Amino acid sequence: MLLLDENDVSSVLDMPSTIRQIESAFQEMGKGKATTPPRFRMVVPNSFGTIRLMATALQDSRISGTKVLTGTAGHREAERTYFLLLLFDYDDGSVKCVMSANRLTQLRTGAVSAVATKYLARKDSRTLGVIGAGIQGQGQAEAICTVARIEGGFVYDLEKGKAKALAKSVRDRYGVGLEVVENVGAAAKADILSTATTSTLPFLTSSMVKPGTHINAIGSNLPSRKELDVSLLKAAKVVVDSRDQALEESGDLEPVRVGTLPRETLYAELADVVSGKKPGRTSNSEITVFKSVGLALQDVAAAELAYLQARKLGKGRTLTL
Ligand SMILES: NC(=O)c1ccc[n+]([C@@H]2O[C@H](COP(=O)([O-])OP(=O)(O)OC[C@H]3O[C@@H](n4cnc5c(N)ncnc54)[C@H](O)[C@@H]3O)[C@@H](O)[C@H]2O)c1
Repeated sequence: MLLLDENDVSSVLDMPSTIRQIESAFQEMGKGKATTPPRFRMVVPNSFGTIRLMATALQDSRISGTKVLTGTAGHREAERTYFLLLLFDYDDGSVKCVMSANRLTQLRTGAVSAVATKYLARKDSRTLGVIGAGIQGQGQAEAICTVARIEGGFVYDLEKGKAKALAKSVRDRYGVGLEVVENVGAAAKADILSTATTSTLPFLTSSMVKPGTHINAIGSNLPSRKELDVSLLKAAKVVVDSRDQALEESGDLEPVRVGTLPRETLYAELADVVSGKKPGRTSNSEITVFKSVGLALQDVAAAELAYLQARKLGKGRTLTL
């Protein structure tokens, strides 16, 4: 069995290859060859120690694995492990790899937004707005700068220091200047938006965004977290990563869950769009939303890529438990 620590995974996985791997996993899902049920979620009473278990099997690629996700965003300490990935031998189920999955989670969450952006954003999109400049906001900026020809944009966070740090890393890495702005409305004027906050109240309304905007809304993956106002759900073409899981987990989709908005508000799953079953964007004026909660499919597909690369490059430690 191979053991990969955080440094090993970071040294073998990058954003461009993760995006390709995630796109191909969603194509497989679109062919009905992925088993990726909603995750099991348990709250550890009187603590931030929630436990989430997520499993996937990809039939054609012969990949299977599980992610264990603990803790709560905003309450995790650097240098501790909250994201653990187990890869299994597809045929007999034995454990073939255990890896730390902090960077992997950031990469796969960014990568799925990049895939959604490829299929849903206008091809002439040139500006990026990031709302929420924490770990995932950083990953969003990295992903969108990889997949789109971004020339500038905006970043907003309740903590200005985090917005400044994100702007600096994007400038250093991609030569793209993101202006640190004072409110959501100013950040929302971009062609492509990513919302990656821990907000519990909706803050993005339809009147804040221009016609033709594409939004990756990734922050709300708990019923208590909300980013999108109901006006935006009504105005936009909404694509989700998984109907079942997104409806179960996302506070953004509460109006659909409780029946205030019809189920048809959710136009498609990303796999339907990526595999060509349903068209993505059909006009330059359409507002598109990709509502992501994060599927095991993304984690396990990215982990397989890390495992194969690590084997090739001789990274990690082999051990028997
Ligand atoms: N969709 C997915 O696949 C996926 C994956 C991982 C994390 N998440 C979710 O993404 C969110 C962010 O995770 P993270 O690890 O980056 O957390 P984080 O704590 O590192 O960053 C969150 C940031 O949001 C900012 N923020 C909170 N409310 C805001 C508001 N109203 N306006 C502007 N900024 C605001 C905070 O100041 C903070 O900088 C969490 O809710 C997490 O559960 C989703």
